[in-house]
Amino acid sequence: MSLQAHHPMLPQPTHDEESRQVFMKSMREHVTGTVTAGNKVVYEGAALKTFVRAQGRAPRNRQEVRKAMVREPYHQYWSAFMRTTQEMMWDSVGATVDRTVDDLNGRAKAQGRTKGTLRLDPALALPRYVTAVDIHCMPGNYTTDAAPDDVSAGALYDRGVYLYMMGGMGAHNESCGSTLLGHLSTNYADLGPKRILDMGCAVGHSTLPYVDAFPDAEIHAIDVGAPMLRYAHARAEGMGKTVHFSQQNAEHTDFPDQSFDLIVSHIALHETSAKAMRNIMAESRRLLRPGGIALHLEIPPFADKEPFDQYLTDWDTHYNAEPFVGTLHDFDLRQVMQDAGFGHNEVIMDMIPVHVSTDDGAGNYTHHVGGYLLAHGGKRGA
Ligand SMILES: C[S@@+](CC[C@H](N)C(=O)[O-])C[C@H]1O[C@@H](n2cnc3c(N)ncnc32)[C@H](O)[C@@H]1O
Repeated sequence: MSLQAHHPMLPQPTHDEESRQVFMKSMREHVTGTVTAGNKVVYEGAALKTFVRAQGRAPRNRQEVRKAMVREPYHQYWSAFMRTTQEMMWDSVGATVDRTVDDLNGRAKAQGRTKGTLRLDPALALPRYVTAVDIHCMPGNYTTDAAPDDVSAGALYDRGVYLYMMGGMGAHNESCGSTLLGHLSTNYADLGPKRILDMGCAVGHSTLPYVDAFPDAEIHAIDVGAPMLRYAHARAEGMGKTVHFSQQNAEHTDFPDQSFDLIVSHIALHETSAKAMRNIMAESRRLLRPGGIALHLEIPPFADKEPFDQYLTDWDTHYNAEPFVGTLHDFDLRQVMQDAGFGHNEVIMDMIPVHVSTDDGAGNYTHHVGGYLLAHGGKRGA
């Protein structure tokens, strides 16, 4: 039984499509849980011993663990299982999106443009890190238009992310946004932002919680993907939320200096590049008003993890078309923000808990607290 909350833009599966999607969610729970755990048994029982015999010491980093593990048949089986599950998951949603594409595109137009706005830029140069691979194996990535005024990439992402995260990001996939909002209300209750920017908003999963939290604020959200933004805008309109979406590269936007008092991004940096990440931090600083705050939420860095756990997390870099994941986690984000112009005393790095839950398909929920890294730059001054 799917627990994703309904909204007017969500693709509507047939009974059999829904059944297949829920099966893929269960298969992902199985492969990321039970099957992934088997790697540790194989590592400690075989790969580690072989490595120590040859080198006279244990692996020092994830690269060495990986080198030891890739020879193991269990690693190869697990990796193939993970990759196949990923591709089958997208296929299960794609069947619905492809079948209903005309209806989806029609529904997007019918949402009207009464509240927020949508500004597309067909001349925008798409960054190579977005066009070179289908990130996390999502067919067509964030930018492919299958028809004029297409929203299918957004529809695919909306449902796909829910299955990929096994429902753990909330009924509207909103937990990154609500997590940052929790941090804001605890630590910066007085900020009262009047203009907010969400960079790399995708379909607005994390953007919409800000609309509820700051009803008087003007909220902007940018992304490079036109089909994502069309869907994001239609979804927001359908849910009665006012957001101004525009197709822009977060590295260099057309907003004037000091346009915002709160700038956020959620799990977007790891899908860019070293150069882009530096540019995005510099752009965050340029766009902040004095007294404003930039909050960039990412998955936790590798630094605090054992080499074996780093190897598991780094699977996406090698096999799930997320080429920048490993590199990002080797960066010192604090230093990146300082290099981008934030003063030493303006940058705070923190791990903040995010509440996620998974269900076993039979109505039983397991609640976890995961860690998110927060790179936070505040701009001082009157
Ligand atoms: C993983 S999704 C982000 C998820 C979203 N922030 C959320 O919390 O639901 C990454 C998004 O960042 C966008 N993106 C990547 N590079 C970008 C850039 N330089 N400027 C704007 N958007 C970018 C992609 O098109 C994609 O939609």
